[in-house]
Amino acid sequence: MILPDDPKYAVKKVHVYVREIVDNELGFKQVSLSCPAKTKVYLFVSNEKMIVGCLVAESIKQAFRVLSEPGAVPSSGQDALQHHRAWRCSTEPEPAICGISRIWVFGPKRRKGIARHMVDTVRSTFMYGCYLSTNEIAFSDPTPDGKLFATKYCQTPNFLVYNFIYNN
Ligand code: ACO
Repeated sequence: MILPDDPKYAVKKVHVYVREIVDNELGFKQVSLSCPAKTKVYLFVSNEKMIVGCLVAESIKQAFRVLSEPGAVPSSGQDALQHHRAWRCSTEPEPAICGISRIWVFGPKRRKGIARHMVDTVRSTFMYGCYLSTNEIAFSDPTPDGKLFATKYCQTPNFLVYNFIYNN
């Protein structure tokens, strides 16, 4: 875990890493993290000493619940179209504490529980002395992979999101 108050070289290195590897894969074009002072970065280091997972968490105050599409059948995880469907969320904000700004796992290491392990770690370390519930964490504008993961992790398709682009 890299905290904002850690030595500058570590913070700088990790932010460059996030920008060059993670943002590149997620297709983010922004130059830097929105507010590095409020950001905690978690890296998952493999036994081979490679960084194979990265999660960027930030403090947030509110988030919005993804709405189930009327008549939608729960995705089996196999239906590509279902993955890429547009999604809607509630206009009613709910209080939330921790925003997952980015989550990424190295391709060959996916589906081994690394993302789950990183989110479990965030929940127990983000706020001192608290284990955050899945109703206190939210995902920033999730990708199709992110949506599948969040649905499974939170055990509901109605998980919390924030930072999405508003499109009437
Ligand atoms: N398809 C279907 N179900 C999935 C998928 C998927 N692609 N990914 C995760 N799940 C579900 C599964 O039920 C899985 O359990 P199972 O393997 O026992 O069935 C459960 O979530 C837990 O998955 P993990 O193994 O912990 O997830 P993983 O380590 O593979 O990482 C992640 C998931 C981070 C989404 C990865 O696929 C990834 O890096 N994708 C590319 C980057 C990306 O899109 N990141 C999300 C952006 S959204 C955001 O940053 C807020």
